[in-house]
Parts: sequence; structure tokens; C-alpha cells
Amino acid sequence: MLDPKIRSLVEKIRDRKLRKKVADLLNKPSFLINGKEYLGVSLEVSPAGLSHHHSYLGGFTEHVVSAGTIALAMCDCVEEVYGGVVNRDLVVAGILLHDVFKPLTYKVDEDGYYSSTRLADYLDHSSLIVSELVRRDFPLELVHIVAAHHGGYGAVRPRTVEALICHLADLVDSRLNGDVLNAASYLVRRIVGEELPALSSKEAFEIVHCKAAEGEDGVRKAYRRIVEERKARKT
Ligand SMILES: [Fe+2]
Ligand SMILES: [Fe+2]
Repeated sequence: MLDPKIRSLVEKIRDRKLRKKVADLLNKPSFLINGKEYLGVSLEVSPAGLSHHHSYLGGFTEHVVSAGTIALAMCDCVEEVYGGVVNRDLVVAGILLHDVFKPLTYKVDEDGYYSSTRLADYLDHSSLIVSELVRRDFPLELVHIVAAHHGGYGAVRPRTVEALICHLADLVDSRLNGDVLNAASYLVRRIVGEELPALSSKEAFEIVHCKAAEGEDGVRKAYRRIVEERKARKT
């Protein structure tokens, strides 16, 4: 079952044929090679990174929804401020699919932590999804967006407004999330002297907010609250 927020992004794609192709891939993001099918972790629980950003349960969904929101705001800027032209269908489809094979590169270890799969030893998520989009005959403009989503570090740089928007939205959301996670982990380590493993975005934003509102005492209180909430969820 697709997350309702992801589903409502899919609904924004006006071109019926493209919407169906995107939905089909999101509903079953599998990759077939040499007769073996790779399925990976499910989209609903998958993180969107192992360390730098969205590195917690449900991180993939949060990343796609947040990057989609940023990308659509950038479409508004292009049209309303700069008077430019942008194809929103391509932008939304690009955001929905750019990392859709990341979960294929993750597995859950016995201790509950995520690590890389054997498939990830050979191909990165970007190469995997680009080859799948070609295999499924997606529009070349969309294949380009996905191939270019890592900007200067990817296979090709963004060469269309839509590809640039997707790259920047991806980058901004990764930084926003990653920097807040890092800041919260640092505050807990320095002020409480403990580690909070697999910190979620909600916990991280709470810690950072409490530091701004109540100083070091706020961090101690937030830490205690988070530990209690985690214990309650386990029982
Ligand atoms: Fe990516
Ligand atoms: Fe991404």
C-alpha cells in the first residue's frame, strides 16, 4: 500500500499514461537481472539514506514528500516570478522516482540496523533506476531528470529546467534533514552525554526546537521524553 501522501503526489500527474507508468513502478519497485528479481525493503519502512540524511524508518517517504513540496514551490517561482515554463508532470514524476530503487540497495540486519545489499555492491540506485526507466520506455526527458538528480556528482548534469528543479529540491531536502539530524545528535551527545540511535526527523526537530526555546535544560527534557516515548512504543 502506497503512503497517502505519495499517492496524492502521483495524482498530481495530469498525463494519464505517465501517471499509470509511475504508479505501476511505485506499487512494485522490483528489478530483474539475469533471471533474478530484487525486491529490497518496502517503500513504506525504508530509509532514504544509511547515514547522511533520512536514515530512519519511513525516511524514504518523508524525503519524497518533502522534496516534492520543495520542487512544486520552485515550479511556482519559475512560473509566477520568472515567467518561465515548466512541465510539472515531469517534475513530480522525477521526484517520485529518483530514489525509488534506494530500498533495493538496503537490507535489515539481525540487530535491526540497515546495511547495503549485494546488488548495491555492483550498481548504485541511480544506475538501477535509469536502466529500469529505459526498459519500461519512460519519456527521455524523465530519464534525463532521474539520471541528473545528483547534479555535478551524477552521470550527467541537469540540462532542463525540470531536471534542475528536481536536483535542487533533492539537495535542499537532504541538507535540511541531514543537518538537523546531525545537530540534534550533537546536542544530545554534548549535553546529555548519551547517543540516541536511529534518530527520526520528528525527534531531531523537537530537540533542536527545545534547545532554542529552553537552552540546555530543554535538550535534557526532550531527551528524557523521547526515551520514555520509545520505551512506551516497545511495550
Ligand atoms: Fe539519489
Ligand atoms: Fe533523493
